[in-house]
Amino acid sequence: MSELTQSPTWQALTDHFEQIKPLHMRDMFDKDPNRFEKFSVRSSGILLDYSKNRITSETMTLLTDLARSCQVEEIRDRMFAGAHINSTEDRAVFHVALRNRSERPMMVDGKDVMPDVRRVLNKMRRFSEDVRKGHWRGITGRHIKTVVNIGIGGSDLGVIMALQSMRSYQRDDLSPRFISNVDSSHLMETLRDLDPETTLFIVASKTFSTQETMLNATSARSWLVKRLGREAVRKHFVAVSTNKKRVHDFGIDTDYMFPFWDWVGGRYSTWSAIGLAIALVIGMDKFEEMLEGGYAMDEHFRTTPLENNMPVIMALLGVWYSNFFGWSTHAVLPYDQYLTRFPQFLQQMDMESNGKRIDLQGRPVDYTTGPIIFGHAGTNAQHSFFQLLHQGSWNVSMDFIGVANNHHPLREHQTILLSNFLAQTKALMRGKTEAEVRKELSAKGMPPAKIDMLAPHRTFPGNKPTNSLVLPLVTPFTIGQLIALYEHKVFVQGVIWNINSFDQWGVELGKELARDLTPKLTGEVPIMGEDSSTEGLLNYMKRLKKEFI
Ligand code: F6P
Repeated sequence: MSELTQSPTWQALTDHFEQIKPLHMRDMFDKDPNRFEKFSVRSSGILLDYSKNRITSETMTLLTDLARSCQVEEIRDRMFAGAHINSTEDRAVFHVALRNRSERPMMVDGKDVMPDVRRVLNKMRRFSEDVRKGHWRGITGRHIKTVVNIGIGGSDLGVIMALQSMRSYQRDDLSPRFISNVDSSHLMETLRDLDPETTLFIVASKTFSTQETMLNATSARSWLVKRLGREAVRKHFVAVSTNKKRVHDFGIDTDYMFPFWDWVGGRYSTWSAIGLAIALVIGMDKFEEMLEGGYAMDEHFRTTPLENNMPVIMALLGVWYSNFFGWSTHAVLPYDQYLTRFPQFLQQMDMESNGKRIDLQGRPVDYTTGPIIFGHAGTNAQHSFFQLLHQGSWNVSMDFIGVANNHHPLREHQTILLSNFLAQTKALMRGKTEAEVRKELSAKGMPPAKIDMLAPHRTFPGNKPTNSLVLPLVTPFTIGQLIALYEHKVFVQGVIWNINSFDQWGVELGKELARDLTPKLTGEVPIMGEDSSTEGLLNYMKRLKKEFI
């Protein structure tokens, strides 16, 4: 057994779980009218109501003890102090420096990184203002109308999510597009109706070596050169990367390279120059408001006692369901159309960070780690997978994200949206007992035999836990808060599980094998030494491919 599962706090939680298991939240709410007051916290306008969880005050005390015994506070402080907590890559984890809005120096390896951070922010401001004001133009003198971000994973998902969330801040004459998949359909469909004269490409890649991004960038460059000539590249391509040499070798003027640093992990990089598309499309002031939101959450996380610390509470509840109830899945359900991409963004942030089975000392863990994250915007999700959440045989913990106000003045829509948000969390908590079903059906005059037949199907077990996060409005500031909230939640869980949340070696094997298999598909090398499935599939695909060409 690992130190974690042997620890007295873990053991206490294991015993406590046996007491909590039979309790129903419906009864807990009936007995205690102060549950909401007891189990809700606020931070700069965001509310977390976690009262609809299968917890008592004792549960939270024990979970907080667990966090303390796992040194969450100490390791948090080490992260903010620029320590190399990404041990397998020997790097600091310092995305918090990117949104440090105070005068406090942020030190890594004895150097304050803030002057560099501010220099890049200023460069982003100058460039984005030039483009937005029409001072930077395409090679033929026309204004830029479309910004195409070419990147994948952390160099794509956060930017799409943020821009979709802040679409109401977008001008009509400057819009974003994204190319990430190496499937040529993505590139071709994105470029299909674009005018090269008014298009600006951002090649966004931390390493500038990711196969998909480099091929997409090369094909996009050919598309441009074919239409406007080689000279056009300098007016239509900029780069965001940590690798100056590769940017130069690709043919992009390094004066128009926006740098960041190895202490920014890919999935934590939306705050860096990777967010250039955000600055271009909604303006640098809005981008900086997003940084302010991230900073506000950082300050909350850094200074609030664990008992009232929003990311810590969310992390601990995740541990409670994952490790003690044994649930493997967590759903994130934003009730705001602008946040539709948020669950997908979180999938990378959470699953690439905490999808690990080896602890920091190199041993396999004997407990479960990061959950499977999925989700979609309500109310649409209610009409797709909510049936399973209410009555399925799997248990899923859930975050509902509600937004009190809308950017559009159709009040009736907002009222219906919010009432659905409230109805779902209430239904999931209370359920509907068989006695209630029978009473309801007989009040409608249904014959007893039919009631007997229908009652079990129409019964809802309830007792399904949900967190309710409520934002005043989707703004750059609240988006910043929300992203940082989940980043810190993931961080705290990684600390408790004693894993490195900041590497991603698991993605490497597939990349390596794809490189080896490419020449076998093109016929440059013979198909030898493969397992029979891979060999069979290779041969079959090669045959089909030939037929199609
Ligand atoms: O998916 C693996 C990964 O390394 C991610 O962590 C990263 O966000 C993505 O690839 C893209 O990497 P890069 O920005 O270097 O192109």
